[in-house]
Amino acid sequence: MADKIADNKKLKRLMTGDRPTHNTYSIAHYIGSLKSRIINQDKYDTFVFIADYHALTTHADKTSLISSNTVGMIRTMLSLGLDPKKVVLYRQSRIVETFRLHTILSMLTAMPELERQPMLKEKIASGYKLTYGLMGYPVLMASDILIMDADLVPVGKDNEAHIEITKDLARRFNSMYGHGEDVLVVPEGEIGEIVIGLDGQGKAGKSTGGIFFDDSTEEVKKKVMSMYTDPTRLKATDPGHVDGNPVFIYHDLFNTNTDEVKDLKDRYVKGTVGDVEVKQKLLSAIEQFMEPIRQKRSEIDKNMTDDDIFDLLRQGEEIANNSAEKTINRVMKAMDF
Ligand code: TRP
Repeated sequence: MADKIADNKKLKRLMTGDRPTHNTYSIAHYIGSLKSRIINQDKYDTFVFIADYHALTTHADKTSLISSNTVGMIRTMLSLGLDPKKVVLYRQSRIVETFRLHTILSMLTAMPELERQPMLKEKIASGYKLTYGLMGYPVLMASDILIMDADLVPVGKDNEAHIEITKDLARRFNSMYGHGEDVLVVPEGEIGEIVIGLDGQGKAGKSTGGIFFDDSTEEVKKKVMSMYTDPTRLKATDPGHVDGNPVFIYHDLFNTNTDEVKDLKDRYVKGTVGDVEVKQKLLSAIEQFMEPIRQKRSEIDKNMTDDDIFDLLRQGEEIANNSAEKTINRVMKAMDF
């Protein structure tokens, strides 16, 4: 089935993935990124990978977690509706041609291009060592994308600059070695929104407060009921602010009852509804969203062993490696190697 898709030249290719830093995803990540790959799996030849080597930029001392996180993330994606018969799933580390392309592209990358990356500055500010690998993160990401001839790359806003570098490198390679032809496909990015954490800050991660797909009903309740709201509002009768208020941001994203959301917002602004009611309704909405996903997950966990998950990855890696080999052959030929 997946072979048919890999050979189907008519479909454009979508390629994306994540670093295996957790064993599941947050529901905010679903909005900003996972949703797109699931909606698009019928429309695109979809390649989804686990960026395990990229995880080393921050997790070099925690490598024992990488394979269990990989399995957990795949299980979560399957429970969200990603269909392994349609989507090619694979691990970055198994696609060796990526690293050959990475070496070539690194020779075409000027240091200042890397030095001005916003993500780099952020990582250094949060205490990570500036390694050669962290510096080269965008070049490796460009290699992941370009080796697969991706047309569309859905990523979060924090990766937007990396997509720009990827396009620049593809164009640069083509103009240096293409003799008028596009050897590397210049991809388009699809930039997803970053959903703030429950505490109203940063992106929703483990530290800034996020709801994760493996959270129990009890845990979700605790998190929602202690969410940040409007700091200027001291009593339920004070007029409140809706814009930028995490509780309403999450209502807009997860509450399908738009009349209810509108009513809550109207009353909040007037000061005729308390935080507790707003949060309880949000809790029901999030639970409604999560419950079928939890059920699907428990089915998957019953029916699929970790070995089955690795089998899926190995099947995907065969297809992905085939595709990567074709790209590297074009690259070597264009360079007269
Ligand atoms: N940088 C992505 C993240 O923040 C992971 C990633 C690595 C990626 N290579 C990629 C995403 C290629 C899309 C395409 O999680």
